[in-house]
Amino acid sequence: MNATPRLPAAEKFITEMRAMFSVTPDLVVRWEKARDLLAVLLRDNEVKAHAQTWPDSPAKLGLEGKHGNLLLYEDADWGFCINALIKKPTAKTTIHDHGVSWTLYGVIEGGEDVARFERVDGCVPGDLPKTAIVRETESVAVRPGYIDLIKPWQIHAEYNRPHRTAAVIIRSQKCGTYIQNIFFQKDGTVEQYWGPQQIPFHFGWQSESQRHSA
Ligand SMILES: [Fe+2]
Repeated sequence: MNATPRLPAAEKFITEMRAMFSVTPDLVVRWEKARDLLAVLLRDNEVKAHAQTWPDSPAKLGLEGKHGNLLLYEDADWGFCINALIKKPTAKTTIHDHGVSWTLYGVIEGGEDVARFERVDGCVPGDLPKTAIVRETESVAVRPGYIDLIKPWQIHAEYNRPHRTAAVIIRSQKCGTYIQNIFFQKDGTVEQYWGPQQIPFHFGWQSESQRHSA
């Protein structure tokens, strides 16, 4: 049992997400509205302080390749999840998509480069190929407060700078319930996997002493 309740800003975000989902069936509109709610969450000073307590070890967090996410919340009714991702200095993700899921990726600490890719092999993203040719289309330098809306099958990668970077990720469904592609540019092969390992983590202070020392 957790020692303390969730952070007030997290509780507010969850309540507002649930209310918004119930009246917003259109997925494009729903995720644009969710982006606005996440922007508020990222600006909260207590959430920023909490992010400084997110561990980058030993749970495969922040490593190049297949990494793990902290699982801060999973909604029992709507299925959306709140994850946290911590990247060690200079860590790189693979070039990958998020399969059928929708994702908001919001940087809360640090900064990095987010690259987008397109398929140039004549195939439209939306499948699970054995091979594919991808080409980078843009790279954006991002800072805290930046939120990337990643639609289903959108191909991307993140390249950290020489410092720790932390992000809050909102997913339409929990990793492990959908399959993703990893694209290897060196030989054009594609690997499928079930997404980052999910590591439960309390989205509140573990104790009163932790709250006061943050
Ligand atoms: Fe991603």
